[in-house]
Amino acid sequence: MPQESTNTVMKTKRKTKKNFINVIDVSKRYSLGEVLVKALDNVTVSINRGEIVSIVGPSGSGKTTLLNLIGALDYIDSGTITVDGQELSKLSDKELSFVRRETIGYVFQNFNLLEELNAEKNIEMPLILSKKSKEERKKRVEELLNSVGLLERRNHKPDQLSGGEQQRVAIARALANNPEIILADEPTGNLDSSTGKRILNLLIDLSKEHKKTLVFVTHDNEQAILAQRQLVMNDGTIIKDFSK
Ligand SMILES: Nc1ncnc2c1ncn2[C@@H]1O[C@H](COP(=O)(O)OP(=O)(O)OP(=O)(O)O)[C@@H](O)[C@H]1O
Ligand SMILES: [Mg+2]
Repeated sequence: MPQESTNTVMKTKRKTKKNFINVIDVSKRYSLGEVLVKALDNVTVSINRGEIVSIVGPSGSGKTTLLNLIGALDYIDSGTITVDGQELSKLSDKELSFVRRETIGYVFQNFNLLEELNAEKNIEMPLILSKKSKEERKKRVEELLNSVGLLERRNHKPDQLSGGEQQRVAIARALANNPEIILADEPTGNLDSSTGKRILNLLIDLSKEHKKTLVFVTHDNEQAILAQRQLVMNDGTIIKDFSK
C-alpha cells in the first residue's frame, strides 16, 4: 500500500460507537496432518465501543481463536473482521503492526513479561516501540505504575513479583499506548481465585475509567458475570449472547 494511504488509515480518528468490532461470518480451520479442526465456524458478532464483554465456553470451543483473530494475531480463512472501521484482512503488514501496537492492548494468562526487565521497563517497552519521547515515557510509566498500585515495586523484575503483581504490570503495559481495545485471554488463569477476582476487577475498573472496550476470556462464571455482556461459545460457534 502506498505511504500516503497508509498514513491516512493510521491517522484517521473514527468515532463509531456501534459495531466498533464487527465479526461477520468468520471461519478458521487448523489442519494437523490429516485432521482438519474447525476452530471457528461462521461466527458473527458485533461489539460496541466501550463494552465490557466476557467469553466463556469449554476447552477447545474457539475462545482464544476468536480473540486472536480480533486482535490481528492470526488470519481468518473466510468472512470479515472490522476493527474501528478498518477491515483487518485488507491491511498491509505495516498497518497491522500499527493496529497491534496502538489500537489493541493484550493481556495473557502467563503474563508474557520480559524476564530481564524490571516492572518499570516492561511497562515502558510499548512506549519505546511507539517512539514516545523520554519525558513522555517517564510521565506515562509513573501514571501507569500508580494506577495499578505498583509504584513501590517498580524496580522488581518479574521473578521478584507475585503472580498478581506480574499481571498488574502486564495490565499497565497493555494500557501504555492508550489503546481503544483490551483483549485478555484468561488473564487470571494462573492466579488463585481471590487474587484473580481482584485483578479482573482492576482490569474492568481501568477499562471503564478510560472508556476502553474490554473483551476477556475466563473459565470462571463468577468472573464472567462481572461483564455487562457475556458470550458463550461451543464447538467454534457463539451459542449464547446476553447482556445484563
Ligand atoms: N495452532 C493450531 N493448530 C491446530 N489446531 C489448533 C491450533 N490452535 C487451536 N487449535 C484447535 O482449535 C480449536 C479451538 O482452539 P482454541 O484455542 O480457540 O480453544 P479455547 O476455547 O481457547 O480453549 P481453552 O479453553 O482450552 O483455551 C481446538 O480444537 C484446538 O485444538
Ligand atoms: Mg484458550
